[in-house]
Amino acid sequence: MKRILVVVFMGLAIAAISIRVGRSQTSQPATPGPQFAADGKLVRPEGYRRWVYVSSGLGMSYSQKASDSMQMFTNVFVNPVSYDYYLQHGTWPDKTIFVLELYGSTSQGSINKHGNYQKDFMGLDVEVKDEKRFAEKWAYFGFNSGEKIASASTPGQNGCWQCHEQNAAVEHSFVQFYPELLKVAKEKGTIKPTVHLE
Ligand code: HEC
Repeated sequence: MKRILVVVFMGLAIAAISIRVGRSQTSQPATPGPQFAADGKLVRPEGYRRWVYVSSGLGMSYSQKASDSMQMFTNVFVNPVSYDYYLQHGTWPDKTIFVLELYGSTSQGSINKHGNYQKDFMGLDVEVKDEKRFAEKWAYFGFNSGEKIASASTPGQNGCWQCHEQNAAVEHSFVQFYPELLKVAKEKGTIKPTVHLE
């Protein structure tokens, strides 16, 4: 009898510990906003592959000139808290962070005979909305494959900022290229009136 009690007690203790461990893991913000180092540089957002996947582009280019270089895939992710806010309001809250992954493309490999798939990682472009930190509200960062930390592009109204300011459909985000997000913007009436969608 004593033995059984000991076993039952140990079982309960283990169960209690595992519940605690589970809790402490989930109480961590699984999807923090942008993390800045003491010197104000942005820490590379390592966990973004577990964020919300927005959409992908293939070989998108914004100049008339056709390019001979390899077509790149772009995969866009956004932190989940901001995504939830967007679904409700059609706008982006402060501390929104977008990641755009760049992958080189290829067509011939394994069993594939037609079409393109993603191959080599080429870099990360990051965009952050932080109204206190940046006078222009939105800031832009580039990380190559090894970089762990990056400064915001300068000046505040740099080339990235200007193109996003002028052409992006909702605030600085190009939802005209993200079908699921575009539906929300249309429903909420948050598309900038100056932007052409077609
Ligand atoms: C000439 C216009 C232009 C410039 C310059 C530009 N972008 Fe973009 N950006 C786009 C377009 C169009 C998209 C959406 C297409 C896609 O998914 O690739 C986009 C998408 C993004 C996204 C995904 C979120 C969003 O806003 O829709 C990030 C992050 C991003 N760009 C960062 C940058 C950074 C960093 C720079 C500067 C180094 C930059 N961009 C320069 C046009 C531009």
